[in-house]
Amino acid sequence: MTDPHVAAVLVAAGRGERLRAGMPKGLVPVAGIPMLARAARALERVPLIQYLVAVVASGSEAAAADGLDRAGCERVRAVVPGGASRQASVAAGLAAVGEPEIVVVHDAARPLVSPAVITAVIDAAVDAGAASAGVPLRETVKRVEAGHVAETVDRDTLWIARTPQAFSTVLLREAHARAAADGFTGPDDAVLVERLGRAVRMVEDSPANVKITVPADLAMAEAALGGAAAPRTGLGFDVHRLEVGRRLRLGGVDIPSPRGLAGHSDADVLVHAMMDALLGAAGLGDIGTHFPPGDPAYRGADSLVLLGRVGVLVAAAGWRPAHLDSTVIAETPHLAPYIPEMRRRIAGALHLAETAVSVKATTAEGMGALGRGEGIAAYASATLVAGP
Ligand code: CTP
Ligand code: MG
Repeated sequence: MTDPHVAAVLVAAGRGERLRAGMPKGLVPVAGIPMLARAARALERVPLIQYLVAVVASGSEAAAADGLDRAGCERVRAVVPGGASRQASVAAGLAAVGEPEIVVVHDAARPLVSPAVITAVIDAAVDAGAASAGVPLRETVKRVEAGHVAETVDRDTLWIARTPQAFSTVLLREAHARAAADGFTGPDDAVLVERLGRAVRMVEDSPANVKITVPADLAMAEAALGGAAAPRTGLGFDVHRLEVGRRLRLGGVDIPSPRGLAGHSDADVLVHAMMDALLGAAGLGDIGTHFPPGDPAYRGADSLVLLGRVGVLVAAAGWRPAHLDSTVIAETPHLAPYIPEMRRRIAGALHLAETAVSVKATTAEGMGALGRGEGIAAYASATLVAGP
């Protein structure tokens, strides 16, 4: 079977009154990218969709085309002005979409739509002529009159209809023509097809495909996409020389060794790398910023105690460590037997599960200063999520 000819109509011509953003809703950025462009990119990630037509508020065509372009959209065939109702805007898109076998209709107000769901809706429309994304109602529904419950509705067969919806283009054009002739205006395109007595297949949508209507929806979408609350990673590196007569402490564990690491504090190179990774991820500078080198307060200091303080600083900035990874580069001694205890102690200092702290060790294969055993180095990465 050859692939059907599929195109999309992306409607963004509403006024976005409830969002109160002072600009057409489609142009409102969600984590930096206009909603319209995010929705277009999701459509373009479906290889079956050959091109799309964007329908925007009259007068905002150039701004919309620019936003689509900047977001890297490549299959936008036309940007056309919409109408006074959503239905009129879809009709304007249908007039400009050409003759695909299947047309996908999607709202720019749903920028989090998944390409997998779009594909499933297209497949269902190929099979059944008309299909809609939707979610079964999972909460109790009550009809309320004058502030009092008038009825508890049986929700067993109730679904919430969403976009994307997809149709045989011929069928959707017929449905729009009939609605126009009857003076019927509906909330979506599926209802126009239902009026013709034709079946519309429901395809279960991902919970993530929320509609952005009010400012709180925008905040949730930003969080889902990674706005300010997105996880952050930080990188740390430290190296210390080995000297005879110093004790060797790594990851908070004293390790028998003829030489130990030189430094003002206990010179725990692994814990220092982790502290820098945590501070870096939180945008709080580095160890030197918070524990100035040479400060007598930190002479011989237990680095695990300092790590605990870094944990507090990070928490105060609104972050929680989700995971730390690290690699120690040491020619000698063999560190594997001490790693479980290092993980326990580091996790303890940060109030984390041991599984959230990873310590690995390697040698430098005899190469360079580390390979000659002149010192020990450590790399660490930290992943922070928004607190608590
Ligand atoms: N839409 C449209 N043309 C209209 C009205 C709505 O293209 N005349 C589009 C919107 O841009 C949106 C989708 O239909 O992508 C769903 O509408 P809604 O979420 O209500 O968006 P707005 O109408 O823009 O918002 P509001 O009702 O708050 O003004
Ligand atoms: Mg509206």
